[in-house]
Amino acid sequence: MSKPKIGIIVGTTRAGRFSEKPAAWIAEVAKARDDMDVEIVDLRDYPMPFFDEPASPAWAPSKNEVAQRWQKKIAELDGYIIVAAEYNHAPTAVLKNALDYAYNEWSNKPVAFVGYGGTGGARAVEQLRLIAVELQMAPTRTGVHIMWPVMVAVKDEGKNLADFDFLQQGAKDMLDQLSWWAHALKTARDADAQKKSQAA
Ligand SMILES: Cc1cc2nc3c(=O)[nH]c(=O)nc-3n(C[C@H](O)[C@H](O)[C@H](O)COP(=O)(O)O)c2cc1C
Repeated sequence: MSKPKIGIIVGTTRAGRFSEKPAAWIAEVAKARDDMDVEIVDLRDYPMPFFDEPASPAWAPSKNEVAQRWQKKIAELDGYIIVAAEYNHAPTAVLKNALDYAYNEWSNKPVAFVGYGGTGGARAVEQLRLIAVELQMAPTRTGVHIMWPVMVAVKDEGKNLADFDFLQQGAKDMLDQLSWWAHALKTARDADAQKKSQAA
């Protein structure tokens, strides 16, 4: 079986954002493995309006061209790592909007989370897990949580995320789970597609 393609979704877009650092770090950790291919998917490259379609993309095709491009990218991927900030104890609006702008493209695929913030983004990540279930995704048990002192060390003191052994271990555990689910669900989706093509 070909390796699953995992998209690392950068969940903030503001100037000066921190999200680029955890996204680049988890991409390097994942690239060092031989069980997945990864690419960074930056929400800045998909500037969608606040959701403005006649219906959920679960029921009707989107008219917005950026949304169509976004859906195509999400469809190409076999799993996701969402790099999640916490804004007022919740996921960022730009990320929630992007999640709302696809449906079938997310379904039956796994998602893992790298959170960061005062509580390592834990509150936002827990909300994202609930959203993921509604999108028929499989969220991994283990996430990586980058706490504030680590963010300060990286932002202001010249440290790298790779310097922190507990983050490297957390990333390994999370990626092991993501890989298992990505392979299992890809096998299941391929079997479904084969059944459908035989029935046609
Ligand atoms: C509007 C706003 C709300 C925030 N609320 C929280 C919060 O509830 N919990 C938290 O840990 N950090 C919070 N922060 C701080 C963020 O964790 C920090 O700014 C982080 O760098 C944001 O991610 P970004 O740099 O990728 O945008 C907030 C930041 C902003 C801009």
